[in-house]
Amino acid sequence: MQAIDRLDAQERQKRINYLRELDEQYMSWGDTVHYQKRPIIAHRCRGETVTDINQRIYIDTQMWHSSCNFGYRNADIEQAMNRQLNTLPQVSGDFLHEEKLLLAKQICDAIYDRTGVKGRVSFNVGGSLVVEDALKIVRKNTRRNRVASMMGAYHGRTLTVSGLSSSHRYRQYFGEFADRAIMFPFAHCSQCYYEKTPGDCGDYCGKMIAKSLDTDFYGIASEDSNEIGAFFLELCQGRGYTIPPKSFFSQFVPAMQKRGILIVDDEIQVGMYRTGKLFAFEHYDIVPDIITLSKSFTNGLSPLSAVWAREELVGRDVFTPGHAHSNFANHSLGTAVALQTWRYMMSRNYENTLPDKSAYYLRGLQHLKHKYPFIHQVDGLGMLFNITFADELGHPWRDAGKRAVTLAQDFDYLYQGEVYRMILNSGGYYNEGLKLAPYLDITYEEIDRTMAVLDQVLAELGNRGMTPSAA
Ligand SMILES: Cc1ncc(COP(=O)(O)O)c(C=O)c1O
Repeated sequence: MQAIDRLDAQERQKRINYLRELDEQYMSWGDTVHYQKRPIIAHRCRGETVTDINQRIYIDTQMWHSSCNFGYRNADIEQAMNRQLNTLPQVSGDFLHEEKLLLAKQICDAIYDRTGVKGRVSFNVGGSLVVEDALKIVRKNTRRNRVASMMGAYHGRTLTVSGLSSSHRYRQYFGEFADRAIMFPFAHCSQCYYEKTPGDCGDYCGKMIAKSLDTDFYGIASEDSNEIGAFFLELCQGRGYTIPPKSFFSQFVPAMQKRGILIVDDEIQVGMYRTGKLFAFEHYDIVPDIITLSKSFTNGLSPLSAVWAREELVGRDVFTPGHAHSNFANHSLGTAVALQTWRYMMSRNYENTLPDKSAYYLRGLQHLKHKYPFIHQVDGLGMLFNITFADELGHPWRDAGKRAVTLAQDFDYLYQGEVYRMILNSGGYYNEGLKLAPYLDITYEEIDRTMAVLDQVLAELGNRGMTPSAA
């Protein structure tokens, strides 16, 4: 079959039609979320852009849900992959290999440097799988099946982990979830569950979580016993890149830990400097007992994930061999890529370079907020941003985010004489916003380009009669 790049326009269209037909006829939708009715057919990627089979260039503002923090086709990371392909591309996980051990040391050292806590790490192949492993560590150590998580949280979609992800949609067809997590309201201040005024509530929601331990009659704990083994936290929720106040977690995390409830910090989406620090927990004055990493851990290449836990939870006498084994759990292409990703990340001095970039990006969004009255709020932490669309009273403009995503993907926009489209992600409980996670090495010129194209997308959103009142 001839490479698509070599085909003339007519032949190319035929090939595209053929591929769409294959999708229609053979693909189950089990492995996608199909946010868009007609997904783009991706062909190439580099830096912050994806090029489709029609050679349209898309500026990607979400980087595979933050799986490619260090840019598509990062040369350093690709080289490590190629080196490993020529040395040890595959080998039994029962053996040791150098990259795996060096990688484990890097993670444990980094966590020790930030917390003073010693721990150990094990690997797996995707986000949900290390959340599963974290659950096993919790069950083994606490002998409790039930855990808590937060409304709006996402921790993955394997059968067990679906019980921790808040959305009822993910469970509704799959029978009973006997161990489903107990879910507490998250500090989503612009849509406060308790209808409090942001900034004027004295951390009410955090205090209510701590209060749930006060008496037997609240159903979770008595003086000397807890029903939950752990609290799973997604510190800035991926649902809308919601950023809670700095004081939120410290309202209840220490109280939980004092009671022997383990704190599992899911850094799968917000770790790896996404929030401007290596780990998001560093913003929040808490020290987790268990940490999960995935996504940008290998910059989206040859996936590998990791679960770290305090020494006493996963010492070799506690978490004995095979407790969480999977055939490909520490595959050598993954460990080599993760090790290089880690080294690349640590060499970039992000802690010092990202604050200015983050402020510049946020100023761009604030400028758009002043221009478009339907933008209710913009917010950011490091290189994680959100935009919320609402009417003048602050009522969420339902599905506006989804519409913006479609407009960005399906229409052409001009910037300095070049045509671009844009990959956006909608967010918020009502799809009333956008969540943005540009790659961390984005240049200031690329930020300007992003803002110029986003400006045109938002103008379209307003122009097409799709204002909040018409929605
Ligand atoms: C915070 C968080 N945890 C867990 C997962 C699940 O990861 P995976 O899709 O690789 O199973 C995700 C994926 O989006 C995530 O964002």
